[in-house]
Amino acid sequence: MKVLVVGSGGREHAIVYKVAQSKRVDKIYCAPGNAGIAGLAECVPVPVMEFEKIADLAEEKKVDLVIVGPDDPLVGGLVDVLKARGLRTFGPDKKAAILEGSKAFSKDLMKKYNIPTAAYENFDNAEDALAYLETAKMPIVLKADGLALGKGVLICNTLEEAKEGVKSIMQDKQFGDAGNRMVVEEFMTGREVSVLTFCDGKTIRPMTSAQDHKRALDGDKGLNTGGMGTFSPSPFYTEEVDRFCREKIYQPTVDAMCAEGRPFKGVIFFGLMLTEDGPKVLEYNARFGDPEAQVVLPRMENDILDVIDACIDGTLDQTDLRFADNAAVCVVLASNGYPLHYEKGFPIRGLENFEGRDDIFCFHAGTKLNEKGEIVTNGGRVLGVTALGSNLKEARKNAYAATELVDFDNAYKRGDIGRAIDEA
Ligand code: AMP
Ligand code: GLY
Repeated sequence: MKVLVVGSGGREHAIVYKVAQSKRVDKIYCAPGNAGIAGLAECVPVPVMEFEKIADLAEEKKVDLVIVGPDDPLVGGLVDVLKARGLRTFGPDKKAAILEGSKAFSKDLMKKYNIPTAAYENFDNAEDALAYLETAKMPIVLKADGLALGKGVLICNTLEEAKEGVKSIMQDKQFGDAGNRMVVEEFMTGREVSVLTFCDGKTIRPMTSAQDHKRALDGDKGLNTGGMGTFSPSPFYTEEVDRFCREKIYQPTVDAMCAEGRPFKGVIFFGLMLTEDGPKVLEYNARFGDPEAQVVLPRMENDILDVIDACIDGTLDQTDLRFADNAAVCVVLASNGYPLHYEKGFPIRGLENFEGRDDIFCFHAGTKLNEKGEIVTNGGRVLGVTALGSNLKEARKNAYAATELVDFDNAYKRGDIGRAIDEA
């Protein structure tokens, strides 16, 4: 069969790599893709937000399946456009993707259906939010309602900081229209875990757990980023935690979306915090995590196209997900200065060292081919260097060794990805 993957990041490279392993696939297209994806798929330069053009491409290439990777087109309704044109598509429609598209919606959903999460209030004007803060306990968390590239969350230690935060989100519109509404939320402490799940509208099947490192600098310091590295599984995600989450969080979320007339078919990413009072939801995403996909998908034993079919056809209850009893670590090589200012266009050396390997992978996040035919850096996060190992410590050692095989000017990586492994 022919498959079109929509997106251009490390997540989409991991999805394309997994689809390429399927016995059922003959040809993969990616729109727009990147220089790494081009090794596995035919990349076609159609931007992800040009919905009709993506649909034209899928029709023209006669693809049997479209997989939509990123949040923006999902929340914007690309899946609806594709389905309306009769194209078989994997991903939530607009009605369901609101789970990620509006934090106020997702908080109200959790409250209504008793899904454990931080206490909160929603606000649609700055005056009310500022008045509320006067009586609130610090630290406190402010969240812009809409999509903000994972950066719309402010953790404020003092009332002054919180007031500044409200002003920058709601008045100065630091995150644009994403800040038209805002959630003010109780600050929680605990270990963070990411769990990706497949959903067919009724049934939900969790994949293996992972943990992200969102801050730019070692020791979880510096600015929030899209993610500087991941490992899987999380040693803190025990069987007991898993049982609790299946019963109190995962299934109730899918049931709630159904009850609201918004059945969710696709991947729900649960950002969880393991608090003293038990696991609570930090956030929902309506897609694979990036860079969580880079450590979860290489460990998956199923043919991903079988699982996707089950999600689309509503037969996930007959599918068992299988993950290898091993571990994976992904270290992101970023451009120095990310997430603020950085230079692009530097040639990347050593990519050939990953060819033909099935224990180390170099997933491209921000790369492109230049006029000279060289693969050059083209974004803040450039590569996700990933390695498998029989356990987390071995995977971490292998991943850091693999980062030495590849190189570009101005490269920056964290030195402590997987630090939590030693604390388990
Ligand atoms: P989010 O985009 O909602 O996942 O938030 C980004 C990061 O902010 C999370 O990964 C957490 O580290 C942190 N965060 C979000 N909400 C809270 C909360 N209620 N308490 C403590 N930390 C939070
Ligand atoms: N790694 C966090 C995310 O994908 O949102």
